[in-house]
Amino acid sequence: MSATSSAPQHFLADDDLTSAQQREVLELAAALKADPFSATPLAGPQAVAIIFDKPTLRTQASFTAGVAHLGGYPMLVDGTLAQIGVRESVPDTARVLGRMTSAIVWRTYAQSALTEMATHAGVPVVNALTDDYHPCQILADLLTIAEHTGGLAASGPALTGRRFAYVGDGANNMAHSYLLGGALAGMDVRIGAPEGYHPDPEVLARAAAIATSTGAQVSVHTDPASAVDGVEVLATDTWVSMGQEGQKEERERPFRPYQLNDALLSHASPSAIVLHCLPAYRGKEITDAVIEGPASRVWDEAENRLHVQKAILAYLLGHR
Ligand code: CP
Repeated sequence: MSATSSAPQHFLADDDLTSAQQREVLELAAALKADPFSATPLAGPQAVAIIFDKPTLRTQASFTAGVAHLGGYPMLVDGTLAQIGVRESVPDTARVLGRMTSAIVWRTYAQSALTEMATHAGVPVVNALTDDYHPCQILADLLTIAEHTGGLAASGPALTGRRFAYVGDGANNMAHSYLLGGALAGMDVRIGAPEGYHPDPEVLARAAAIATSTGAQVSVHTDPASAVDGVEVLATDTWVSMGQEGQKEERERPFRPYQLNDALLSHASPSAIVLHCLPAYRGKEITDAVIEGPASRVWDEAENRLHVQKAILAYLLGHR
């Protein structure tokens, strides 16, 4: 695999990687998927702190297994016990964990808290989901798209020209990360979302700026059929993100026309694949028929969390 650019210090948002670095990480992920125990940058075993302030299944399982695969010790820190930012400040927590670990993986609420952790930790910090971004998930999705739509591009951005649509809540962390990560990958990224739930204009502007250098396209649609017209990949996510549980009823009505069902899928390419980061709420954002149907690649997508997160940890730790 190629190693042409120096790694960033942290992975807090999708665009902490350049387009070339994203490609290197995806190449490394594919290599680690093919040969899972070939890299041990955490041999010792060195500890990686893995902290959750929100619920999880996939992220905890994949980081725990992934750190072990890399020769390290996955140090699960219970966010409800640590109470980061309540019992102890983020900078104090960062300095303590940074003395004991080789990296910190954190799922929390505010992006600013994650940035503060990175500022003070002295070791790489990885975003395991914040209110703003879910960049590890998007790397897994990009690897899955590559596997099912003809592989990584021969050169340049990893998925040049691939047509992708996300339908549902355009203002959530997945939509934001699809915009940034998809633009870095050179894709045609379309967000289909109701008025009032469009992406943060600042994130959209960042994605558009990236697109000018990668040849990507980014667009926002209120008509779901126009968003998915001819795409090779469709994705959706829950209409009620973590922390929004109190708004469950009011959030359902505006999103109903954006449900990923057979009727919407019929507007995409006949060979289109379907992604969902999971957990899925069947009958809400996606139908049982679609998630269990022939287009679904959600289980490959879930597995790929393991491979891309091993790759990003190894990459940040200097392994190519
Ligand atoms: N997709 C995802 O991040 O899954 P978990 O919330 O279960 O970790």
